[in-house]
Amino acid sequence: MTEKKGLARGAANYGDKEFALYLRRSFAKSMGYSQAALDRPVVGIADTGSDLNNCHRTAPELIEAVKRGVLMAGGLPLAFPTISLCEPFLQPCSMHYRNLMALDTEAMIAAQPMDSVVLVGGCDKTVPAQLMAAASAGVPAVQLVVGPMSANRYMGERLAACTDCRRYWGRYRAGDVSEERIAEVEGNLATTAGTCGVMGTASTMACLAATLGFMPLMAASIPATHADRLRAAEEAGAQAVRLIQNPVRPETLITEKSVENALRVLMALGGSTNALVHLSAIAGRVGVKVDYDRLNELSDTTPVLVDLKPTGEGYMEDFHAAGGLVALLHEIRDLLHLDCVDLDGSTLTERIGDGPAFVDRTYIKPRAEPVSPVGGLVALRGSLAPDGAILKRSAATESLFEHEAECHVFDGLEDLAARIDDDALPVTAETVMILKGAGPLSPAGMPEAGYLPIPRKLGRAGVKDMVRMSDCRMSGTAFGTVVLHIAPEALAGGPLGLVETGDRIRLSVKERRLDLLVDEAVLAERRARWVAPPAPKRGWDALVRREVTQAPEGADLRFLLPEG
Ligand code: FES
Ligand code: MG
Repeated sequence: MTEKKGLARGAANYGDKEFALYLRRSFAKSMGYSQAALDRPVVGIADTGSDLNNCHRTAPELIEAVKRGVLMAGGLPLAFPTISLCEPFLQPCSMHYRNLMALDTEAMIAAQPMDSVVLVGGCDKTVPAQLMAAASAGVPAVQLVVGPMSANRYMGERLAACTDCRRYWGRYRAGDVSEERIAEVEGNLATTAGTCGVMGTASTMACLAATLGFMPLMAASIPATHADRLRAAEEAGAQAVRLIQNPVRPETLITEKSVENALRVLMALGGSTNALVHLSAIAGRVGVKVDYDRLNELSDTTPVLVDLKPTGEGYMEDFHAAGGLVALLHEIRDLLHLDCVDLDGSTLTERIGDGPAFVDRTYIKPRAEPVSPVGGLVALRGSLAPDGAILKRSAATESLFEHEAECHVFDGLEDLAARIDDDALPVTAETVMILKGAGPLSPAGMPEAGYLPIPRKLGRAGVKDMVRMSDCRMSGTAFGTVVLHIAPEALAGGPLGLVETGDRIRLSVKERRLDLLVDEAVLAERRARWVAPPAPKRGWDALVRREVTQAPEGADLRFLLPEG
C-alpha cells in the first residue's frame, strides 16, 4: 500500500478510516482552506516564536517567507508551535529542557500530517533539539535558523551579546567599570533580533547543521535582519517541497563521515564546547558515536582558521561577509569527506565549488597562517575523568596547560555562589577550582556553570585565568582554562564525586590527561562513605534523573535512543 500524502497522512483509524479523514478535512476547511489547497502535499513548519525567546523575534516573518516558498513550489504550508528555548529565560538551565523540546518536536512531527518539515530554530538548544527530533521522526527536514544578531556600535567599539557581556561584567566585578556604565551597557549589548553574534553555541550549531547538509552552507550565517535571511526562509520552503518529491531522510545526512566533517568544522571554527555534546546527541539518534580518541586525532590535524569572538576578534556578521562556511570548507576541503550529500543530493564538492569569489582573510585565515595549527577542543582522560572530559584549548591560557596543584572543591552551585567571593576563601592563582554535582544528572541539569568566576579577591589582584574543572558545561561565548563535561559525573558515582579540597590534581594537555593524585585506598574509603543524593520524584526532573546519559553520549534520554 502506498503511503498517504498530505492531509491524508496518518489519519486515525477507529474502524472507519474514511470517516476520520472526512472529519479532518472538514475541520481543516473551517480554517478557510479550499479543496485544491488541501489536496497539496503538506509542509509542516515548526514555529518556535515565543515572547520568551528574544533570539527568535523574527520567527513570524520567517514563517511567512517559508510559506511563500512552499506555496510557490506547490505545497501547503502548515505551521505548528513547539516548545521554544531561550538561554537566559530558563531555570535551572536551558539544557535541562533540550531533550523535552526534542521529544515534543519529534512527537508533533510524527503525530501530525506532514510530508516534510521546516524547523525554525536558532538559539543554542533549539537546533540540536530539532535535529535530534527530525532524526528520530524520520520525516525529511530542512533546518532554518533565525540567523545571528548584528553587532551594535557603542562608544567606539562593537558589542553583540555574550562575550562582550562577560567582558564588561568581569571588569565591573574587578571594579574598573562603574554602576552607571554597566547599566548603560546593559541596553547596548544585544540590540537586534537573532542569536548571539559571536561563535558561540548557536552559531556553531548553525554551521554544523549546514555542514551536515540540512541547509545551504551560506544560510548558516546570514544576519537575522538581512533581507537574504528572508530569501533563505523562502528557499527553505521550496526545499521542503523538493524533499517531498525526492525524499532524503535525516539519517541519510547524519553518518559517520558527515559527523567527522562536522567535527572538523567545529575545530576549524574554534567553535563551542557545547556543540560536542549536541553533535553527540544528534549522531546518537541514528546510532553514530562520537569517539573521543577520534576527536583528538581530528583536533590535532585541523587548524583553527576562523577568528571570531569569544577567542578572536570578529563577529558572525564578519564571518558571513568574509565568505562564510563556503570559504572555510574550501580552505579545509582536503580534510573533509567530500562525498557526503545534502538535502538536494549535492556532494560537498559540489556545494563548495571553487569557493567564494572573495574571502576576507581578517576573519577566515588561509591554511598557511592559521589562528592555531591545531583544533580548539581536546578530550582528556585519566583517573579524574575515566570516560573523558573536554578542554577548549583555544580559549585557555597556554601557561596553564601543564599544571599540578591542590584543589578547592565547591559542592554544587549553591556552595559556589555562597563562597566564591568570600575574602577568606583559601585559594591562590595556582589553585585548581573544582565544581562538582552539576552534571546531566544533577537538579541543575548540566548548566553553563563550568566557567567558575575568578574569586573577587583574585580578580582585584589582576588574576585573569585559573584552572577550573567540573561536570557541567561552559557557555560557547566564554573563555578560560576550563575543563568541562567530566564523565562519569559526580552524581553518577564518578571519581569527581570523591574529590576533596586539598587533593592534588594534575592537568596535562600534552598527554591529554586529567588525574586525581590520591591513593586508591583513600578513594575506596571515600567511595564507601559516598551516598547518592535523593532523586526527584515527579515530572520531567524525575524522568531526566532516571534516563539521562552522560556527556560523551550527548546527555540524551536513554529511551529516545534507537533500539538495539
Ligand atoms: Fe539565544 Fe545566545 S541567547 S543564542
Ligand atoms: Mg550560549
